[in-house]
Amino acid sequence: MCSIIGYRGKQAAAPILVDSLKRMEYRGYDSVGVATFNSGNILVRKGTGRVVEVNKNLNMTAMSGMIGIGHTRWATHGGVTNSNAHPHSACKNNIAVVHNGIIENYKELKEELTKAGHIFSSETDSEVIAHLLEVHADKGVRKSLMMTCKMLKGTYAFVAVFQDGTIAGARYEEPLIIGVANDGYFISSDVLGFLQYTDKAIFLDNYDVALIDGNNMEIFDFDGNPVAHPITQVAWELGEVDKGKYAHYTLKEINDQRVSVANAARQNEVMMKRFCDVLSDAQSVYITGSGTSYHSALIMKQMLARYAKIRAETVMSSEARDGLIGLDEGSVLVAFSQSGETADVLESVKIAKKQGSRVLGIVNVTTSSLARTSDAFLAVNCGPEIGVAATKSFTGQLALIYNIVARLSDGNLVAGEKAEFVTAVNKVIASSQSAIEKMADDMKEVNDIYLLGRSVHYPIALEGALKLKELAYVHAEGVAAGELKHGPLALMEKNTLVILLNPVDGTYNDSISNAHEIRARGASVIGISDKRSEVYDLWIEIPHLSEEAFYPIVEVIPLQMLAYYLALAKNADPDYPRNLAKSVTVK
Ligand code: F6R
Repeated sequence: MCSIIGYRGKQAAAPILVDSLKRMEYRGYDSVGVATFNSGNILVRKGTGRVVEVNKNLNMTAMSGMIGIGHTRWATHGGVTNSNAHPHSACKNNIAVVHNGIIENYKELKEELTKAGHIFSSETDSEVIAHLLEVHADKGVRKSLMMTCKMLKGTYAFVAVFQDGTIAGARYEEPLIIGVANDGYFISSDVLGFLQYTDKAIFLDNYDVALIDGNNMEIFDFDGNPVAHPITQVAWELGEVDKGKYAHYTLKEINDQRVSVANAARQNEVMMKRFCDVLSDAQSVYITGSGTSYHSALIMKQMLARYAKIRAETVMSSEARDGLIGLDEGSVLVAFSQSGETADVLESVKIAKKQGSRVLGIVNVTTSSLARTSDAFLAVNCGPEIGVAATKSFTGQLALIYNIVARLSDGNLVAGEKAEFVTAVNKVIASSQSAIEKMADDMKEVNDIYLLGRSVHYPIALEGALKLKELAYVHAEGVAAGELKHGPLALMEKNTLVILLNPVDGTYNDSISNAHEIRARGASVIGISDKRSEVYDLWIEIPHLSEEAFYPIVEVIPLQMLAYYLALAKNADPDYPRNLAKSVTVK
């Protein structure tokens, strides 16, 4: 969602803050703002648009001072306007605040504050924080932070700069991390906010307040009790977020899969054993995730049943309130999340833990809340994923699933970094890119796309539809191919486009019959398969695999490419799809 950065050190703050905001922009990108402190004054510049645009218009980098805070916004409360952009100031301009999360009781607080004479300049829930800090300012910065935090309901990470040059942050259910540099401190919602400058991080917990004053940094809880956390060294590779020779992060990340699937398949033996032991000891297994990560959960369920004879239930994280009823000490929840910060996923973990269950995480960001709260976790190891659409993290999750299932399968499945899917992924990336680019260009007038697949191909149909929706803004629907005749066939007519996921496996013949039924109604069929068929209007060839379990990781790649090139054909920005954010830290 929103990104937050604060800096207090010996260098000019504004260029550092703007640079950090650019790196974290994938978290939210509808508006941006910076506040700096210099000689007793707090100066704010903010506006709607991307960091580069707003900086060009407002020259935020030129703001003076060695202390400051910054923010990129993904609107929740209040439209995308200059006044709703953060930082928000208190009435006397003596405090400025940036916030990520949702203040649920902001209406009541705003009413009380307004009655007391405070004047609000935005429609956001966040602005109440600045006014509350101002209300308690006479008790000193430390006390005002504690009192304000106790009045807030909801989820938040906020950072404030005060008129004495102190910067401070507090968190409840939203990430906030301190970066410890040689000549100062950072405070950010994401390690990417400061990894350019330091790899030493302190991860704050719920109810922590951090105060950076002069050269000192102290952490205490909402009652003022001191809190100690270790300094963690964060892997530098996380900071490598360069597009390289590619036009977009999304295209780079699709191409990164040549290497990242092998990295995901190469796992630390000790961690893998620990993870699999917990899973195989469980009396009941639940698997959860959101969006693309939920599609991985669906595939894991099918793979566990087919190859390891383990029955599992899948629960969309946003539906966990009912879906996770009845877990107990014998249950295990496997939670998938690239970011490890998705609010719905973390909520599922909370629900599971409350019932005594164990939690196994599958994450890409190993410093994330999910990694830290899981009983054991495995890392997808695909490097930073900046494009908002999940691509390499999804195939990384699949490669990991294959490893886990292989280990539990008693020899029914053999996976690992030498598995044939690694070569097949490379082949499909190399062979299909230019044909798909051309296909996408011919598809730009299409309004509705149906993606059909049976068995393990059904989650890929859902995933392909999600990619097409979010990147190319086209209505796309994933349908279990066998359900065609139970409804969707009514929509098949001339100008309807169907993409059929149809590798040569146990589902092949049934899906070919579906293709004939679709063609008979005048609709067009693109077949993704290792075998050409005369029933396809267009054929996207994928490599033949001797292990059919591996088709999903290969067949999803042409769909990622199609969504990317269709976005380009429709002049959409594939890295920053409208209305979305990479890390969804609000419910
Ligand atoms: C789709 C996409 C989202 C995420 C979802 C979960 O391309 O990126 O649907 O998959 O928001 O995110 P994580 O995996 O970080 O929990």
